Amino acid sequence: MTERSGPTGRSEHRRAVVERCRAMAPWWHSMTVYQVYPRSFMDSNGDGIGDLPGIVQRLDHLVDLGVDTLWVSPFFTSPQEDFGYDVSDYCDVAPEYGKLADADHLIEEAHRRGLRVLFDLVLNHTSHEHPWFVESRSSRDNPKADWYIWRDGRGPGGRKPPNNWRSVAEITSGWQWGEERQQWYLASFLPCQPDLNWRNDEVREEMFRSVRFWLERGVDGFRLDMFGDITKDPEFRDLNLRPTMVGGIPRIWDRSPIQNTDDNVELARELRAVCREFDDVGGPVGDGPGAADRERILIGEVFGSAEQLRRFLAGGDGLQLVFLFDFLTFRYDPKWVRARIEEFEQTFPWPAQPTYVLENHDRTRLLDRVGGDVAKARVLATLLLTLRGVPTVYQGQEIGQSNTFIPLADAKDPIVKTYFPWMPEAVNSRLKERLNRDEVRTPMQWDPSPTVGFTEPGVTTWLPVNEDRRTANVETQSADADSLLSLYKALFAARSQHRALHEGRLDLVPGTPKGTLAWVRSDGEERVLVAANLGRDAALVPTGGPASVLVATDRAVQLTNGSASLPAPSVWLPANSAVVLLLDGPDDSVGA
Ligand code: GLC
Ligand code: CA
Repeated sequence: MTERSGPTGRSEHRRAVVERCRAMAPWWHSMTVYQVYPRSFMDSNGDGIGDLPGIVQRLDHLVDLGVDTLWVSPFFTSPQEDFGYDVSDYCDVAPEYGKLADADHLIEEAHRRGLRVLFDLVLNHTSHEHPWFVESRSSRDNPKADWYIWRDGRGPGGRKPPNNWRSVAEITSGWQWGEERQQWYLASFLPCQPDLNWRNDEVREEMFRSVRFWLERGVDGFRLDMFGDITKDPEFRDLNLRPTMVGGIPRIWDRSPIQNTDDNVELARELRAVCREFDDVGGPVGDGPGAADRERILIGEVFGSAEQLRRFLAGGDGLQLVFLFDFLTFRYDPKWVRARIEEFEQTFPWPAQPTYVLENHDRTRLLDRVGGDVAKARVLATLLLTLRGVPTVYQGQEIGQSNTFIPLADAKDPIVKTYFPWMPEAVNSRLKERLNRDEVRTPMQWDPSPTVGFTEPGVTTWLPVNEDRRTANVETQSADADSLLSLYKALFAARSQHRALHEGRLDLVPGTPKGTLAWVRSDGEERVLVAANLGRDAALVPTGGPASVLVATDRAVQLTNGSASLPAPSVWLPANSAVVLLLDGPDDSVGA
C-alpha cells in the first residue's frame, strides 16, 4: 500500500482496511441456510412422519445443492399441538422424531459433510404440558408459581383479562383463564403455549441450561423463535390502537409494550454471552483454528422495521443475525426491490449482514405469489443468492413446490383451528396470505412417485402429497439442466466460488432501463454484475466492459460485446430473466 494523503487517499485506505478485515470475517458472514421441517423432510421408518434419521439419509441433498448450514425446526419432546413449537422437554427428542442419540448423530453426520447445524429454540413459551407449567398452574404458591406470566383479572371475580394484550393473531386476548389458580396466564401465540416469565432468574438459568446442553453437543447455533416477544412491559400497560403492516401482515395494535423491548435486546446480549462460553470448545467444521471459525451463532425470528430489528445486534454483542421478512411478501417490481435493498444496505452495513428470506414453514410459497410463473421464481432465486446477506432456502423451494390446497375443514394447523374456525373457504382461498400453514408443510418431494420418496410406497403421509410432484421433485429436476433445481445449484456454486458474491460489497447500478435493476458485488479486483429484468419487455443492460456469464436464468440471455449499432457492451435480457456476470478488469463504469 502506498501512503497517500487527502480525502481520496483516506477513503482508499479505509477501503483497504475493510478489505483486510473481510478476509478475517467469521464463518456465518458467508453462510447459506437451508431450513428443514423435520416432520415433512424424510420418513425413515414408514410411519408417514419425517424424523431425524430421515434427515441424515438426505443430508447429501444439501451438499449437492451447495448450501453450508442446516437449520432444523423443533424436534424436541412435545405434544405436537403446534408441531414442535410447543416444547415439553428442551433436552430430549420427541419419540416420533427419534432419540437423543439421533440428534447427536445428525450433528455428527452434518459436520462430517462440512455442514453447520442450527437448532430451533422456542424461548418465549413452552407447551402447557411442560411439567413446569403443570406445576405452575396448580396453585399460587408452588415453587414454579412465578415461572409463567400470571395475573389477577379485572371485574367481578377477576373474570376479565388483566389488560388488553392480544395474542399474535390479534383477534383474541392473549390471556387464558387458569381455573386452579383463579388467575390469568399470558399466551402470546396459542392458548396451549403459555409464555415463560423471563423476569424470573430461575427461568433464565434453566433456559440457559438447555441452551448449553445443545452447545455442548456441538450445535453451531440457533434460530430463535418469536425472539422479539419474550420480555414484556413489566407494568403491563395496555396497548394502543395503531393499524400498520409488519412483514406483510396487518397489525391493529401498537405492540411496542410487548415487542422488541429494550429488555429483550438485553436478553440477546445475555444469550450471546452464553454462546461465547463455547468459543474455545471444539472447531466443529472449522477450516482453520481461529475463534471466528468456532463462533456459535444466533439468528432471531423478529418482526418490525429494519431499524428496530438492528437493535438486536447490540453493536456486535447480541444476535449475529435477524431475519428480515420483507421479501416473504415481495412486490415483483424493480422499484420495490431496489428500495428494500437500499434500506437493508443502509441499516445493516458491513460488518453487519442483512438476511434474505423468500419462504418458510409459516408462509405462502413464492411460486403461488407469482401466479405459478417459474420464470419469475428463477429471477427471485437469483436475487436471493447474489444479494449481500445471508440467504435462507426452505425445503422444496429449490424445486418449486407450490402450496398444496387443503380445505380449512381438514386443517391440522392449530392457527386455523384456534383462531379461524369460522372462516369461509371461499374467503380463505382468495387470501394472498393463506391461513392454513399445512399447505406449505406437505412432504418434501424427492421423486415423482405417489409417496414422493418421502416414505415407503403405500404409506399414508401425515399431510397429503402435492400433485405438482410429477415435475416438482428432486429426481426429475436433477436430470434436467434447465430445471429450477439446477439453477439453484449453479447459483450456490457461483456464490461460493466467487468471494465477491459471498463476502464482497454491493453497489446498486444507477439508471438501468425500465423494468430492470442491477448491482455490482466486488471484492478486491473481482467484480460480479447481477442484472435482472422484472419488466414485461426485453431490455438491454450495459455491462460497462467485457464480461462472461456465470449463471443465466434463461438460455436467451445474450452478451453483446459492442458493435456499430450497439456501441456499448451490454447484456440482452428477455422479460423475467436475470444474469450473473463476471466482469473483466477493475473498471468502474458499469451502467454509466
Ligand atoms: C413462530 C414459528 C411458528 C410457530 C410460532 C409459535 O412464528 O415460526 O411456526 O407456530 O412461532 O412458536
Ligand atoms: Ca418416521
